[in-house]
Amino acid sequence: MYNAKIAGLGYYVPENVVTNDDLSKVMDTSDEWIQERTGIKERRHVINGDGDTTTAMGVKAAKVAIERAGIDKDEIDFIIFATLSPDYYFPGPGVLVQRDLGIKTVGALDVRNQCSGFVYALSVADQFVKTGMYKNILVIGSELHSRGLDMTTRGRGVSVIFGDGAGAAVVTRSEDNSKGILSTHLHSEGQHAEELSLIAPGMGQRWVLDIIDDNDPDDTSYYPYMNGQFVFKNAVVRFSEVIMEGLKTNGLTADDIDMLVPHQANLRISQFVQKKFGLSDDQVYNNIMKYGNTTAASIPIALTEAWEEGKIKEGDTVVLAAFGSGFTWGSAIIKW
Ligand SMILES: CC(C)(COP(=O)(O)OP(=O)(O)OC[C@H]1O[C@@H](n2cnc3c(N)ncnc32)[C@H](O)[C@@H]1OP(=O)(O)O)[C@@H](O)C(=O)NCCC(=O)NCCS
Repeated sequence: MYNAKIAGLGYYVPENVVTNDDLSKVMDTSDEWIQERTGIKERRHVINGDGDTTTAMGVKAAKVAIERAGIDKDEIDFIIFATLSPDYYFPGPGVLVQRDLGIKTVGALDVRNQCSGFVYALSVADQFVKTGMYKNILVIGSELHSRGLDMTTRGRGVSVIFGDGAGAAVVTRSEDNSKGILSTHLHSEGQHAEELSLIAPGMGQRWVLDIIDDNDPDDTSYYPYMNGQFVFKNAVVRFSEVIMEGLKTNGLTADDIDMLVPHQANLRISQFVQKKFGLSDDQVYNNIMKYGNTTAASIPIALTEAWEEGKIKEGDTVVLAAFGSGFTWGSAIIKW
């Protein structure tokens, strides 16, 4: 068995900043409401025509991660791409990254686990590296939400939360067994699948031709639906459980955590978890204020920023945790 470590990190967010005040010009909301409930001050939205797609943003983040890993793109031997907002219905963006980065014909896998997507993808990479099957795996989380949100008062409960961006990591074989990804923990509860979902387009609902014919302005099935309070209540429980599970597996306690990088769902959720584990502000990394919730991209963006700011150092115990649509949730315990 080998060990797997994160050898390089990168992120990319579109330049276009959308503040809460900008949103209040197109829907009935306010900076005060959004900040109080979510902690979000602004987020990034792509501008049509600037070339930013889920894949393109992922490629930009990946280039930084690959360079920082100190390897050539031709040394990547597998690609894993997590997103809920792919460029195409199919094929998924993994193969588009393989093409656009000019990587040789390695395998490309798409992960569909929404806010938990990066933790799931990291877990898959970890297994492939640990078994010796692959040496350098490119893991990307990227989302383009803004084109799919209901930017009217009808959609305000969801649309103010989500933002666009991408993050990437190179997961590499390590001979040092004392460092790297110690364990990952994945869960799901499909019973609540529809509580945070985007039902259409999906073959489970209607004939594609009916959907095209309908053109019904009252049809909200093309927009994400979220039962906000129900999601909140489940999130705080599952975040706590899965962090505890990871700590216990490794014989650790909350006192051993140097840095918790939670999925940036809502600042209130992060604060709840921080309090529950008795962590200081320096031990939890949050950037939802700047970027909103970028789903599968949120952990790799936050992890990259934390690392760039020198908040993650060699030997640190870093905990990643996520919860989201599915419901799915997961954690990763890393010795940096
Ligand atoms: C979404 C969330 C911020 C909403 O906060 P909330 O306190 O639950 O608010 P509610 O949905 O109960 O709505 C309260 C009121 O605010 C209104 N409201 C909703 N969105 C609003 C907005 N953007 N601006 C102003 N008012 C808004 C509602 O219409 C409702 O009005 P009413 O009382 O007149 O009916 C909160 O539920 C949440 O953060 N949930 C978790 C979301 C999450 O983390 N998702 C990602 C998981 S990965």
